[in-house]
Amino acid sequence: MNDNAAMKTFDDIEVRRAGIALGYLALLDAQPGRPLALFAPRRVGKTYFLDNDLAPAAKAAGMLPVYADLWLHKSAPLAALNHALEEALDDLLVPSGNLAKMAKTQVKKIGLLGASVDLGDEPHRRALPESSTLRLDALVTRLARQHKGRVLLMLDEVQTLGDVPDGVSMIAALRSVLHKRRADVCAVFTGSSQEGLARLMNTAGAPMYQFAQIIDFPMLGDEFLRPLAAHFGKVHAGKKLDMAGLRDAFKKIGFKPALMRDLVKAMSAEGVTDVQRGIENYVRSDHQLAIWHALLNSVNAFDRGVLVAVAKGQPPLSQATLKTLEMVPGVKPTISKVRSSLEKLKRSGLLSKTAEGTTIDDPLFAEFLQRRGTTLTPYRILS
Ligand SMILES: Nc1ncnc2c1ncn2[C@@H]1O[C@H](COP(=O)(O)OP(=O)(O)OP(=O)(O)O)[C@@H](O)[C@H]1O
Ligand SMILES: [Mg+2]
Repeated sequence: MNDNAAMKTFDDIEVRRAGIALGYLALLDAQPGRPLALFAPRRVGKTYFLDNDLAPAAKAAGMLPVYADLWLHKSAPLAALNHALEEALDDLLVPSGNLAKMAKTQVKKIGLLGASVDLGDEPHRRALPESSTLRLDALVTRLARQHKGRVLLMLDEVQTLGDVPDGVSMIAALRSVLHKRRADVCAVFTGSSQEGLARLMNTAGAPMYQFAQIIDFPMLGDEFLRPLAAHFGKVHAGKKLDMAGLRDAFKKIGFKPALMRDLVKAMSAEGVTDVQRGIENYVRSDHQLAIWHALLNSVNAFDRGVLVAVAKGQPPLSQATLKTLEMVPGVKPTISKVRSSLEKLKRSGLLSKTAEGTTIDDPLFAEFLQRRGTTLTPYRILS
């Protein structure tokens, strides 16, 4: 399917996961009112799946998929969701054709001494409620009615709800709307922070507890590696990538398809077929080193020290780490400083929390940090 003749570059390799999408839709059907929460590390293809597989499958089943990235409006995630719903409603209400749509959206909100009037809505419709929760309820109902079918809410980066002050009440609101309107709406959540998602779902007493069904989102496998190898073979007549080597490498880099594709592209540029060597070259390339140095220079010396300690496998809150951090000039290392640094680094995506504890999110970056040894400073500033 992917290694067809029309494929021109490594970038065109795409894996469709229709079977997984159908499986999820069946699960949603089987338990009305209960959302699915997809667990998976960063960069493994969650958003891509929502966009390219789940949304089309939902459409084909007569549903109306609505996507909202809650991270985009970290301070007001529920407003972000409502905004996505309003846009979907607009799309349904406005007559087709760009001109008509423009004319209609232009008159949609006219500020009248501070109050806004919804001229764009159908005349018989009342204005939407101000409160986000009521608004969510009203929007979901209107959308489903207008569409004459169920709405599928796809809430990406849902762990954001765990990080905002009134997150718990937002989850409660979401939960009650999903339950009350279960005939009209169903939902799939994804989150890249396993820790955040787990905290959100499993804190006893929190409204999400036992509410969503938590699912391990499956990593890509041979169905992605095979077309990569096939394309490599097409570009380099007589050379062949070994599947076992590719599998090891894919596992090593945490099943991140974009990273894997970059790696194979680099190997292709150099004509290298030994995947292990490919990784070594990649990790040492000027291009990659420049990216990692820039990444390191984007955090302060103390955070860099914490990163190196984590990369070396030291328990971050241990005496050994504090000892290492004494080498950072100008800061007296304390457990609480390490803790807030870890928090910050997790938020920025450099660290992630796994079953094994805190780790560097990008395994190749971890290798780079290990290789740098114990010298924490001074850093070469690339400018
Ligand atoms: N099924 C797929 N086929 C081909 N490439 C894919 C596929 N899924 C993901 N990718 C590649 O991996 C990249 C990262 O995927 P995506 O952004 O969906 O990950 P994510 O899990 O949502 O990451 P994050 O946690 O950072 O939001 C995509 O931009 C795409 O290049
Ligand atoms: Mg994503």
